[in-house]
Amino acid sequence: MDGKRILLIVGGGVAAYKALELVRLLKKAGLGVRAILTRAGERFVTPMSLAALSQEPVRTDLFDLGAEAEMGHIELSRWADLVVVAPATADLMGKAAGGLADDLASTTLLATDKAVLAAPAMNVRMWLHPAVRRNVETLAAGGWRFVGPDEGEMACGEYGPGRMAEPAAIFAAIQDLLARNLPPLPLEAAGGKPSPAAAKPAAPSGDGPLRGRHLLVTAGPTLEPIDPVRVLTNRSSGKQGYAVAAALARLGARVTLVSGPTALETPPGVTRVEVETALEMDEACRCALPADAAVMVAAVADWRPESASELKVKKTGGGATVRLVENPDILAGLSKPGPKRPKLVVGFAAETHNVAAFAAEKLKKKGCDWIVANDVSEADGKSGVFGRDENHVALVTRDGVEPWEAVSKTEVAEELARRIADALKG
Ligand code: CTP
Repeated sequence: MDGKRILLIVGGGVAAYKALELVRLLKKAGLGVRAILTRAGERFVTPMSLAALSQEPVRTDLFDLGAEAEMGHIELSRWADLVVVAPATADLMGKAAGGLADDLASTTLLATDKAVLAAPAMNVRMWLHPAVRRNVETLAAGGWRFVGPDEGEMACGEYGPGRMAEPAAIFAAIQDLLARNLPPLPLEAAGGKPSPAAAKPAAPSGDGPLRGRHLLVTAGPTLEPIDPVRVLTNRSSGKQGYAVAAALARLGARVTLVSGPTALETPPGVTRVEVETALEMDEACRCALPADAAVMVAAVADWRPESASELKVKKTGGGATVRLVENPDILAGLSKPGPKRPKLVVGFAAETHNVAAFAAEKLKKKGCDWIVANDVSEADGKSGVFGRDENHVALVTRDGVEPWEAVSKTEVAEELARRIADALKG
């Protein structure tokens, strides 16, 4: 990645301040960064701070004759290996989708044939507006890639997707795209002949068989409050679920990852919905529908305290009793027949013995289509699967049990993503 060059277009949104941190991360990794700041962007960050961090002059004006003579907007886009738009506002994306060019940012976006990565940021109502949805689809069909937006506390009501992805997640997406040596955008080649890429537009978040599909993934533990400072939880690291989300996104899917608290970065091209309790996870999953397939990897707490105390429970010198009630089974709920049921519902099952038999039973009980059965016995001398990077799994379907060779969580995720792509094709 060292030595690669990023042209960063900073649009006008509160999230513009995060672009500064992104520049810092890119420079630290040895990349060249030049920035274009829109007029609205200047209301949120100054050209001075972007210039100081990027150690390059910052461009703001299309009609700046001095700067155009030095490095015009066409040269700027030629100079770059990748164009990154962060924050990508509704206005900037609307102009780009409609082919408008009335300032330096929109003109550069229209003039570039380099791969474009956008990190959208806007109010949830705007993000969900049909006009913005259409524009995002147009840009995705034209080869733009997207990272985020992230979702707020809940998927419903006034909260939802719209928050710009964190700088670390945008940085990870940039690393991923640069490593993949993307082809140029499908523009008309010089001389009027269509470029080879024009015939086959690139997929929104990766070229692959899951392009145009929406996949729902759950991951991580849930936290069930006893009082404001104490919780019931489990040791799930979330690694397997995040690996599944990343593998599905790499195959071109639009992925919604409903995640309990973890220390992991959102994988490139994935929208993360952060939740804490099983009830929140259940609601967020239902809000994320419709989905073509759902993969439930979360280690949902089976029980929660019947009522969480609003005040911290004080010690009284004796013991304490916490009455637990069962949490909804999210996997079973999603598997119920109905118009919103995803075509394919996949569960994970951790078992210490009778792995295949218990998994087959679970498949029936929960009504899902596949179970990835995970052997968490300590037979190999290691202390269970939580937090480890390897998995021993078998795929259990109504047709039988198939042990897999895949061992690392990434390999399990990749194999599963391939199988899901095949199943949805059929
Ligand atoms: N799961 C879920 N909601 C729950 C519990 C589990 O969606 N309340 C999902 C998990 O994400 C996983 C699958 O169900 O995909 C299997 O979870 P597991 O805890 O092994 O199943 P249980 O029904 O709790 O069975 P057991 O009696 O073995 O704990």
